[in-house]
Amino acid sequence: MAGRIPQQFIDDLLNRVDIVEVIDSRVPLKKKGKEYTACCPFHSEKTPSFTVSQGKQFYHCFGCKANGSAIGFLMEYEHLSFPEAIEELARSQGVDVPYEGGQHPDPAVKKAQTDLYDLMQQTDQYYQQQLRQHPDSQTAVSYLKERGLSGEIAKDFGIGFAPDGWDNLLKALGNTPEREKALVTAGMLIKKDNGKCYDRFRDRIMFPIRDRRGRCIAFGGRILPKDQPNTDKEGAKYLNSPETPLFHKGRELYGLYEARQALRDIPRLMVVEGYMDVAALAQFDVRYAVATLGTATTADHLQRLFQLTSEIIFCFDGDRAGRDAAWRALQVCLPEMRDGRETRFMFLPDGEDPDSYIRKIGKEAFEAEVKQSQTFSEYLFKQLTDEADISGIGGRAKLVETARPMLSQMPEGIYRKLMFEQLEKLGRVDLSLPKPESGRFKPSRKQGKKTATSMTPVRKAITLLLNQPGIAQHWLQSETSNSDELAKLDLPGMDLLLEVLEILRIHPDLSTSALIERWRETPSGNHLAKLASEQPELDDSAALEIEFIAVMNALKKQSVDLRYDDLQAKLDHGTLNEAEMAEYKMLLQQIYVVKSASKPD
Ligand code: GTP
Ligand code: MN
Repeated sequence: MAGRIPQQFIDDLLNRVDIVEVIDSRVPLKKKGKEYTACCPFHSEKTPSFTVSQGKQFYHCFGCKANGSAIGFLMEYEHLSFPEAIEELARSQGVDVPYEGGQHPDPAVKKAQTDLYDLMQQTDQYYQQQLRQHPDSQTAVSYLKERGLSGEIAKDFGIGFAPDGWDNLLKALGNTPEREKALVTAGMLIKKDNGKCYDRFRDRIMFPIRDRRGRCIAFGGRILPKDQPNTDKEGAKYLNSPETPLFHKGRELYGLYEARQALRDIPRLMVVEGYMDVAALAQFDVRYAVATLGTATTADHLQRLFQLTSEIIFCFDGDRAGRDAAWRALQVCLPEMRDGRETRFMFLPDGEDPDSYIRKIGKEAFEAEVKQSQTFSEYLFKQLTDEADISGIGGRAKLVETARPMLSQMPEGIYRKLMFEQLEKLGRVDLSLPKPESGRFKPSRKQGKKTATSMTPVRKAITLLLNQPGIAQHWLQSETSNSDELAKLDLPGMDLLLEVLEILRIHPDLSTSALIERWRETPSGNHLAKLASEQPELDDSAALEIEFIAVMNALKKQSVDLRYDDLQAKLDHGTLNEAEMAEYKMLLQQIYVVKSASKPD
C-alpha cells in the first residue's frame, strides 16, 4: 500500500489551488454576489442551488447537501479515491505528491496504473474493431440485430466482439512480457500453472464496463447462441471480469456513464439486472437504466446513484426471486432514505425482463408503469401487512415488531417521521416517538428565547471558526485560552471545538476546507461540513471575531462557575486542600469581577 500523504502537503495544496477554478473547468460556474453557483452536478435540478465559496474554498449544495473541499469535489465528481484526487490536484499545480515512507509515488507503480487504463482502452477498441472487421463477427452482428439493437446503440455502449480462439487478444495486445502481465492483472488474460496465458473472453459479445470518467475498467461477455445447444463450451451465459485494481463489482454500475452522457438532467435512475436490459431500454430511449453486475444492490451503489438523482426505481421480475431481491434492496435503502429522496419498486409480469417487456408494450406504456410503481413506503407497508393479519392484535404486534427496527435505520427527517406515524396508524399503537432534534448539539435551554439562532454557544463558536478560521488567533494568544478549563465543561461538541482550536493554534493559516479535510470520513467531518455551510449573519471578519470572543468568554465563564461550584462543595464538606483553597480564592475574585459586569441568566 501507499504511504500516507503528509498533512502539511495537503494543507499546502489546498492553499494553492482555487476551488472555483477546479470546479469551473468541470461544471461552469456563474458569479453571484460573493459566491459562485451552478446547477448541482450531484443531483438533478433546474434552478442552481450549488454554491462555491472562494473565501472558504468550499462547495455546498442547498438541495442535496453535498459539500466539501476541492479534494472532496474531485472524489465525488470524477469518482476518485482520496489519494487519486490529491494526485489530480497536484498534477494541475505541477507538483509531485510525497508519500511518507517514500513508498509509492514510485513512478513505476503510478505508471503501471496509468498503463492499465491505457491497456483496457486498447482492449475496448480491439473488441469493437473485431465486431466490425472479424470474419466471424457476422453471427454476433446478426444476433445483436435480431435482439433489436441498432448500430447507434451498439456504438454508444461500445459493444464489441471477442473472436473464438485462445490467443486473439494475447497476440494483438500482449506482445511484450510487461503487457502480458498487465493484461493478466486487468483480468483479460488468464495465467495457467505452467505460466502460459490465454484469453479470458472467447467467442462472446463484449460489453465494456466504464467508470465515472468513462474509462473502460472491465467487461461483461455474453455467449453467442449455438446451433447445437450441447456444444456450449463455456456454460455461463455471461462472463464478467474478475475483481481487479480497476474494477470492484460492488461499486460499479453498468450504464451509469452512458446515462450521464445521454442525459443532461437525470430525472431518475432505474436499476435493472442485465446488460441487455440496459441496452434494450436505451434503444427505446429510456436512457436512465443501469445494471448491477451480477451482485445485489449495495449501499455504495445507492450512494452513487443518489448523488446523481433523487429518485431510484428498482425493476424486478415478478417471481419469487425477484420479490426476495426487492426486499433485500429495500433493506439497503433504509439508511439512505433522506428527505427529498424517493425509491420505487416495479415488478414485471412473470417471465418478462425489462428488455422483453419494453419490446412488448413500448416506451410509453413502460414509463406509465414506472410512474405507477410502488413507492418505498407503499411497498414496505404493503409487504409487511401482507405478511401479518393486522385485524388482530397479534398481527399488529408483529407488524410493529418488524417495522420498528427497520424504520429506525432511516435518517432523521420528515420522511422517517411520517413512516413512523403510518406505522402507529396501522399498528394502532402510540410508539411515543422521540421528538425530533436529537442531534449531537441539543438546543440549550438557557438560550434561544427570542433569538433567531437555536444554537448552543459551542456550536456557534465552531460555526464562526469554520467561516473564518483566522478569527481564532487573538483568542488563542490571550491568556484566557487555556483549554483545560473548557474541557471540563461537559458540553456536547466541546471536544470538537477544542480540537479545532488546537489545530488552528498550530496551523494558523488553514482555510475552511483544509480544516475540514482533517475530519474526512468521520462523523465529526459531516457535522463540521454542515456547520461550514451555514451563512453567518455577519460577514465582516472583525465583527465575526468579536462575536467569537464573546461566545468563548461566555463558555469560559460557564467553566469558571462550574469549577467554583465544585470547590464550594468541597469546602462545605471540609475536603478542600491547600492548592484548591488558593484556586477557590482566585475564582471568587474572578467571579466577582464577571458578575459585577453582567448578571447571569
Ligand atoms: P439475455 O439472455 O442476454 O437477455 O440476458 P439477461 O440480461 O436477460 O440475462 P439474465 O436475466 O439471465 O441475467 C441478468 C444478469 O445476470 C446478466 O446481465 C449478468 O450480469 C448476470 N448473469 C446472468 N447469467 C450469468 C452467468 O451465467 N454468469 C454470471 N457470472 N453472470 C450471469
Ligand atoms: Mn434478457
